[in-house]
Amino acid sequence: MKTQVGIIGSGPSGLLLSQLLDLQGIESVILERQSREHVMGRIRAGVIEQGTADLLRTAQVHARMDREGQPHDGVNIAFNGERYRIDFKGLTGSAVMVYGQTEITRDLFEARDALGGTIIDEAEDVRPHGIDTDSPYLTYRKHGEAHRIDCDFIAGCDGFHGVSRQSIPADVLHTYEKVYPFGWLGVLSQTPPVADELIYAHHARGFALCSMRSATLSRYYVQCPVDEDLADWPDDRFWDELRRRLPDDAAEALVTGPSIEKSIAPLRSFVAEPMRFGRLFLAGDAAHIVPPTGAKGLNLAASDIYYLSRALTAFYKDGQQALLDAYSETCLRRVWKAERFSWWMTTLLHQFPENGAFGARVQLAELDYLVNSKAAMTALAENYIGLPY
Ligand code: APR
Ligand code: PHB
Repeated sequence: MKTQVGIIGSGPSGLLLSQLLDLQGIESVILERQSREHVMGRIRAGVIEQGTADLLRTAQVHARMDREGQPHDGVNIAFNGERYRIDFKGLTGSAVMVYGQTEITRDLFEARDALGGTIIDEAEDVRPHGIDTDSPYLTYRKHGEAHRIDCDFIAGCDGFHGVSRQSIPADVLHTYEKVYPFGWLGVLSQTPPVADELIYAHHARGFALCSMRSATLSRYYVQCPVDEDLADWPDDRFWDELRRRLPDDAAEALVTGPSIEKSIAPLRSFVAEPMRFGRLFLAGDAAHIVPPTGAKGLNLAASDIYYLSRALTAFYKDGQQALLDAYSETCLRRVWKAERFSWWMTTLLHQFPENGAFGARVQLAELDYLVNSKAAMTALAENYIGLPY
């Protein structure tokens, strides 16, 4: 088989790239290791920056988001039993959209099908070849048969555990990592959200987050040891622990119910440089991971895809090479700012016993400064709604 852009991975990065390229008349084929059902079944976050929402509109996959998504003009920070609102709209003139990544992935699959996009799922042993030549190709196995796809470029959209990043020679690839000594225990419940905006709560017992997917579907998280056993967290214990970490008004308003999904996610900051090697371009989780505290994972993947689709379009339309050559540097400038913001939100809001009493006092002082300084609140708002592309 022959195509222009071979894409590894049908997560939001791969699907969005394929859709944007198709709208520019550029062909692509996606190879995905898992089944479509498996990919669609993943529970992920759901806060979308203005830039990501605009890119989804450019990709013509915005209809359901605009119908069912919830614009949020602010967010709440809670500590010492009080809740403080950060007014995004008032401070920056902009807002975010709450719309599940699972829904975005579903919208993208439907859009690819509608345009007759080629997505080969359950593709085993996908391997990129000749990435440092002008004629790269992909090989994979399906139903026990070997296949080959010749292409001009390979987009590594295969996430943190994918094959793409590992294909970059070790003497070229540099990685930067910070692993946090805790995880997030997350619950999805068919209950009305405790508030109409997100609540990020700092508490001596650990961090907590109140989020939502819709007016009837809520998502909650509590900080927990990363090696915690889910069996030790029956729903009642989860709700009790969450209630303890929230200010009284929210604790009283909390509607509980059976969890329909419960899982523990580790927290990590990770960046791989460069994001391009020859004809291989990394995007999304294949190149960088952020702790979820800043709600940047999906949004960083989207900005990578904005830069990559723009560069590939300039190459195919005008024979331009410059944007492709600048791709890695351009992405990494925005990636590191989002890494910094996500690390800062994580450091500000979680319990780090190893930092001792002094560290705990500094955290509270920073929270007190934050909610009493327009400059500090504006800095948080600017980063949360998304820095310009
Ligand atoms: N061959 C083929 N497909 C692969 C391989 C492989 N060797 N390895 C991984 N994949 C697939 C995975 O099964 C997955 O469907 O690549 C896809 C990568 O998707 P994501 O992990 O969702 O990564 P990305 O598309 O970059 O989306 C980033 O996902 O994890 C969230 O917070 C993150 O929101 C961010 C978003
Ligand atoms: C979520 O809705 O799952 C969510 C929201 C904000 C975050 C992380 C997760 O920072």
